[in-house]
Amino acid sequence: MSVTILIGAQWGDEGKGRVADWLARQADGMARCAGGDNAGHTVMVGEREFKLHLIPSGVIHPNLQCFMGAGMVINPLRLVEELDMLAGQGVDVSPERLHISGRAHVITPGHLALDGASERALGKGSIGTTRRGIGPAYMDKAARTGILTGAMRDPDDFAEQIRAAVESANWLLTERYGLEPVDAAGLAGQYRAAAARLAPYIADTTFLIHTLLEAGRRLLCEGAQGTLLDIDHGHYPFVTSSSPSAGGALTGLGFGPRAVERVVGVAKAYCTRVGNGPFPTELEDATGEQMRQAGHEFGTTTGRPRRCGWLDGVALRYAARINGLTELVITKLDVLSGLDPLHIATSYTLDGEPLATLPPDTAAAARAVPVYETLPGWKGDISGARRLEDLPSQARHYIDRIQQIAGVPAIMISVGPERDQAIIL
Ligand code: GDP
Ligand code: IMO
Ligand code: MG
Repeated sequence: MSVTILIGAQWGDEGKGRVADWLARQADGMARCAGGDNAGHTVMVGEREFKLHLIPSGVIHPNLQCFMGAGMVINPLRLVEELDMLAGQGVDVSPERLHISGRAHVITPGHLALDGASERALGKGSIGTTRRGIGPAYMDKAARTGILTGAMRDPDDFAEQIRAAVESANWLLTERYGLEPVDAAGLAGQYRAAAARLAPYIADTTFLIHTLLEAGRRLLCEGAQGTLLDIDHGHYPFVTSSSPSAGGALTGLGFGPRAVERVVGVAKAYCTRVGNGPFPTELEDATGEQMRQAGHEFGTTTGRPRRCGWLDGVALRYAARINGLTELVITKLDVLSGLDPLHIATSYTLDGEPLATLPPDTAAAARAVPVYETLPGWKGDISGARRLEDLPSQARHYIDRIQQIAGVPAIMISVGPERDQAIIL
């Protein structure tokens, strides 16, 4: 049994897509386990750029089987769009190689409207969600009032379930939020068409994954979001509604911990966050702006500018522990070129007292002040580096310190978005 779990070790957008694309070479299957199209994973192959939201990045590799697990929440309209987009880019997205769990949950038009309504109602206290209906879909799942993807096998019945769900959401939209209702019948028709398209993809992914593993094949779980956005282990409520950490791969796909061989964490050489919530090392100044411009830090899913800041070593060490990371990938090292000196937070002070671990709660996290270690920066373009020796000594020192602080060895340092722009260790 050989499972590798790939995990975002920060607040998402660490570069999981490009790392999954690299690890795909050592895999026979790739799976998404949690979340939905709040994710946006970019893979660049020469001139071609793939932006994946729901389908595992492994789909770009023709030899891989791809799975979308029970832990996911899936918007059928967006999935059909993604299938068409990939097919248009020459990718084989046939049901022979893409399998969707019948036990995942459907994101309905009601969920989308309620996500927006709740964010608007929260005003300044909003979470800053991607407004993809993620929270409301997981609410219905937990309340046991959700619609399973397996219902798409019967498109007419599915459309009826969608219509009823939208009507019940309409009650909340009008009565609670004072908003206009959404067009239940019209949208149910669109969902019926999507279900007819997607029905051949619905499968018992748990059984298929067990069969794959029992045949000695290797599965890569492509995590979405990031550890600090975990509903249990992030700073609630500024989190997503699923478990993006390693445990979520087990529950989202249905295998035991003994199947897991490797847990690879992906971290940027600095930090970013989209959406609201604590971010102790955030830089709201020219340095942060420089990171944003150099790193093109604008959301893959929503286009929102990402908040940028120094690497938070405390958060990274926390992610290493939460996930049991065995290996680390450090991305976007190239973005730091020209910033001198560099800083890494190695602890905080909280109300004047030293704190070596993640602040215990959200209010404390908002008050925590990072304690920085200062390191020398470097100048010049490093995107051509392919061996450690190609890097300036300051850059080598910087990545050494990250590994020491995280307590996890790095297996890859990426120095650009392209497939080959990486140092493999
Ligand atoms: P994900 O959600 O973790 O898959 O990450 P995203 O795709 O949302 O965001 C990462 C962005 O950084 C994408 O635009 C990538 O093409 C880009 N990227 C990945 N690795 C590197 C790198 O090493 N250097 C630079 N400059 N860009 C990178
Ligand atoms: P990938 O897989 C970055 C953030 C949102 C918001 C919070 C809750 O590309 O790394 P949600 O829509 O999930 O209810 O929003 O989580 N968020 C992400 N941030 N990358 C992601 O995915 C994210 N998915 C959700 O910005 O702060
Ligand atoms: Mg992303």
